[in-house]
Amino acid sequence: MASIWPLVAGNWKMNGLRSSRAELEDLIRGVSGGQAPAADVMICPPATLIASFAEFAHGGGVAIGGQDCHAETSGAHTGDIAAEMLADAGATAVIVGHSERRADHKESDGDVQAKAKAAWRAGLTAIICVGETQAQRNAGDAFSVVARQLRGSVPQGATAANSVIAYEPVWAIGTGVTPTPEDIAEMHAMIRTEMDGIAGAEGARMRLLYGGSVKPQNAADLLTVANVNGALVGGASLNAADFLGILATYRW
Ligand code: PGA
Repeated sequence: MASIWPLVAGNWKMNGLRSSRAELEDLIRGVSGGQAPAADVMICPPATLIASFAEFAHGGGVAIGGQDCHAETSGAHTGDIAAEMLADAGATAVIVGHSERRADHKESDGDVQAKAKAAWRAGLTAIICVGETQAQRNAGDAFSVVARQLRGSVPQGATAANSVIAYEPVWAIGTGVTPTPEDIAEMHAMIRTEMDGIAGAEGARMRLLYGGSVKPQNAADLLTVANVNGALVGGASLNAADFLGILATYRW
């Protein structure tokens, strides 16, 4: 099978001001020079920065994505953002179902699926997140939880172009603790099998990202695991030098 072109996406979460564009500038400089990685590169800044970042990054080798969207196109939903608005602002993708949204905003698999469909409707790639909690892993339920999240969150019609899956064990996010490469290999093999079932040949080509405490120091170990086709990076994406250190895994 042809190898899958990786994606490394930075999730800035609720961090970043207009002055943070300096990091984006450094990142663009890093990926557009002689050190261009063999991977797609994306930053998902807070919504307030999407339009200006997209305008600045245009043609610079860094795509811009959103962190969440509402399922509907418009209406009385104070504080929410439609996928169409993200696309209008210059985003090409949106993260849906991040564990912080699932926990803080009580988003169900059904909600996540509706958001993924909204992303497609707006022409965005949906980065659909799944992952078990520490308690679920301790109980031996990690595989069944992730399989259930995939079946509930990935809509029919998912393709390698319109969807990316991000496996992010909740206990590894922002903690500095990561699964072993063997644990990741096992989980990603299961996810690949599930996605083959859900999306057939498209599932076989879909990008499966690993996320949770990815740093320059562990990227080479974690991102070269079988069926890992890139990363979703939180903390280490806020600093261009750290993010470039992770991208160095994909140097030609
Ligand atoms: P982290 O976050 O890299 O800071 O652990 C990952 C994420 O939540 O996407």
